[in-house]
Amino acid sequence: MKLAIALGQRQLGLTWPNPAVGAVLVQHRDDGPVIVAVGATQAGGRPHAERVALAVAGEQARGGTLYVSLEPCSHHGKSPPCADAIIEAGVARVVSAIEDPDERVAGRGHDLLRQAGIAVDVGCMAREALRAHRGHITRVTRGRPAVTVKLARTTEGFAGVSQGPRLMITGEAANGRVHLMRLHADGILVGIETILRDDPLLTVRLPGLAARSPVRIVFDSTLRLPQDARVVAGAREHPTWVLTAPDAPFHAERALVDAGVDVFRLPGNGAGQISLPHALAFLGERGLTRLFCEGGPTLADALARHDLVDELVLVTGGSGRGRGDIPALGPALQDRMDELALVGEEQLGSDLFMFWEKP
Ligand SMILES: NC(=O)c1ccc[n+]([C@@H]2O[C@H](COP(=O)([O-])OP(=O)(O)OC[C@H]3O[C@@H](n4cnc5c(N)ncnc54)[C@H](OP(=O)(O)O)[C@@H]3O)[C@@H](O)[C@H]2O)c1
Repeated sequence: MKLAIALGQRQLGLTWPNPAVGAVLVQHRDDGPVIVAVGATQAGGRPHAERVALAVAGEQARGGTLYVSLEPCSHHGKSPPCADAIIEAGVARVVSAIEDPDERVAGRGHDLLRQAGIAVDVGCMAREALRAHRGHITRVTRGRPAVTVKLARTTEGFAGVSQGPRLMITGEAANGRVHLMRLHADGILVGIETILRDDPLLTVRLPGLAARSPVRIVFDSTLRLPQDARVVAGAREHPTWVLTAPDAPFHAERALVDAGVDVFRLPGNGAGQISLPHALAFLGERGLTRLFCEGGPTLADALARHDLVDELVLVTGGSGRGRGDIPALGPALQDRMDELALVGEEQLGSDLFMFWEKP
């Protein structure tokens, strides 16, 4: 099951709107168990992990045990249900980590297998599977993607500087680690001030992985996004969505659309800005399961105020140059810290990553 979960996790960021599932097919032979096939959900969500593993196993699936990180599907979507394929392949036992809360499945996949005489065990490494499938589960149960906020801060706790050159907080190894986190997201989110101040590219720039850049999403209530911003210049190669408020100027929208940017007008929050709960529900409807918010502190704090932060990655840069004056943690995020559990730490050079999440 550990392998099944890991296989699925490798596909995170590629499979939305579907979950990234892993499957491992094992035959119990006289000299012990043997893995005969593995599979993971493919890009775009099809084929599903079970079908990939069954296709590799062929006749060797008969009488075997299939480990899956999420309940096999039971509904007729673009392809017939995986539960049917498992039954047809003659699998004897299915070990499933968790039930799929998607209302089209919700236990029916396991039921179909049991009705066909297959032994089904549910709950193996459930905790790990719940974490791995947090994006899918949040989307089907709350109608929005799961949100990871990442903030880098100086040892004094600052995320940026209001005047003068950009504050460089972390070193090369830490920046590479952040790119690795980006590729496991479906969308990268920033507020417009981060674009205006830093002009980031928001792509994955790791060797061989550039094609895995997520959708870039900018929250920009009045369409201040300049034509010469790097995210606009590259909008035809990397999908770039700008979310804006109802009254944003139409000429600015036209110019951005002409440059290849997708502009979406969403309900306002009564203060002239985009309503964050509506925005996240919209992104969930578009199929995104995991958002990686890279700032800045204002947007991160606004998300915390609406209880929309599921995971927090705080990077304390020991290699930073310059002094900041914009605090990384706003008041709402500070208040929410009590609700988050520290689940891991990683030291990369002189930079410390701390991973927090909702239990
Ligand atoms: N250390 C880090 O991890 C990190 C990361 C990113 C940025 N930074 C630094 O942070 C600074 C920029 O900070 P920032 O916090 O002002 O930028 P930000 O969070 O990227 O942008 C804030 C803007 O987002 C827009 N927005 C749209 N809807 C919103 C809503 N519902 N709630 C809140 N904001 C909404 C608002 O502008 P409109 O009202 O015009 O839409 C708001 O002013 C820069 O110095 C940058 O270098 C640091």
